[in-house]
Amino acid sequence: MINQWKDGQSPEDKDIQATLLEGGALPRHIAIIMDGNGRWAMDRNLPRAAGHQQGIESVRDIVKASSQLGIGFLTVYAFSMENWKRPRVEVQILMSLLKTYLLQEIDELHANNVRLQAIGKLNALPKNVQTILNESIEKTAGNTGLTLTLALSYSGRWDIVRAVQMIALDIRRGTLSPEDITDEHFSEYLLTKNMPDPDLMIRTSGEMRLSNFLLWESAYSEMYITERLWPDFRREDLYSALRDYLNRERRFGKTSQQLRESDEKEQQQGSIRRIISSFSSR
Ligand code: IPE
Ligand code: IPE
Ligand code: MG
Repeated sequence: MINQWKDGQSPEDKDIQATLLEGGALPRHIAIIMDGNGRWAMDRNLPRAAGHQQGIESVRDIVKASSQLGIGFLTVYAFSMENWKRPRVEVQILMSLLKTYLLQEIDELHANNVRLQAIGKLNALPKNVQTILNESIEKTAGNTGLTLTLALSYSGRWDIVRAVQMIALDIRRGTLSPEDITDEHFSEYLLTKNMPDPDLMIRTSGEMRLSNFLLWESAYSEMYITERLWPDFRREDLYSALRDYLNRERRFGKTSQQLRESDEKEQQQGSIRRIISSFSSR
C-alpha cells in the first residue's frame, strides 16, 4: 500500500498547518540549501555518509509537509557543481544515495501528485543516475501537485553563463535583438524558467552564504538561516521558517507606507467589486 500523505497526518499537525494557512500567503516557492550533513555525522563520531543518509529522512518529511501545505514549488540543493571537488568516495556515496532515494520514493511521490524535476549540469552525473532520474521525471511529468526540483551538479553562475551563450546564439541567428533582452526575457533562458522565483530561501547549519545557488532567482527571496543541521531539520523547523516568513514585510524597494496604501486601495477596490456583483446578480 502506498502511503497517501493526506491520510496519515496527526490531528495536531493538521491544526498547525491550518493555522499557518490562515496566517497569510505562504511562499509559492521554497528553496533550501541542505547543509550540515558532515557536521551532524562528526558530532556522533560517524562517517560523513551517515549524515547524508540521515539527511534523506529530512528530505522525506519536508517534501511531505510542503505538499500537505499546498506549496507549489520546493527546490532543494542536493549537489553543487563545486561538490565534484569532494573526495571521490564521498561523491560516489552521494550519487548512490541519490539513486536509492529515487528508486525508493518515486512511487510514493507519484501517488501523491508530486512532479519531479532537476536542474543543473545533469549530463555530468553517472549514466545510471541519469537514467533513473529521467525515468522518474517522465513518470511524474503530468502531476499537478508540488513541483519538487532537485538541484544536481548545479551552479547559479553556470546557468547564467549558459543563458548568455544561448542569447548570443539567438542574436547571431537573427531571432533576437539586444534591445529585447529584459529581466523577464533573460529568465526565460534559465533552467528555472517554468518556476516563480523563490519567495523563501532556507539554509541549514548556520552558514551565511548562497554557495552559488539560484543567484539570479534569489534577488528578492526572504532568507532564513537556522543553526539546525540538515539531518535534524524536520517539519517543525519548516513551520518556524514559515511563521517567520509570514511576519516579514516584503517591500521590493518600496516604503512601508506605500505598501499599506496599496493594500488599502486593493481592499477598497475589492469591496466595490463585491457591491457591483451583488447588484448585477439580483
Ligand atoms: C550538505 O552537507 C550536503 C552536500 C553538500 C552534498 P555537507 O556535506 O556540506 O555537510 P557539512 O557542511 O560538511 O557539515
Ligand atoms: C552547498 O553546501 C551545496 C549543497 C547544499 C548541495 P556546501 O557545503 O557545498 O557549501 P560550502 O562549500 O560550505 O559553501
Ligand atoms: Mg557543507
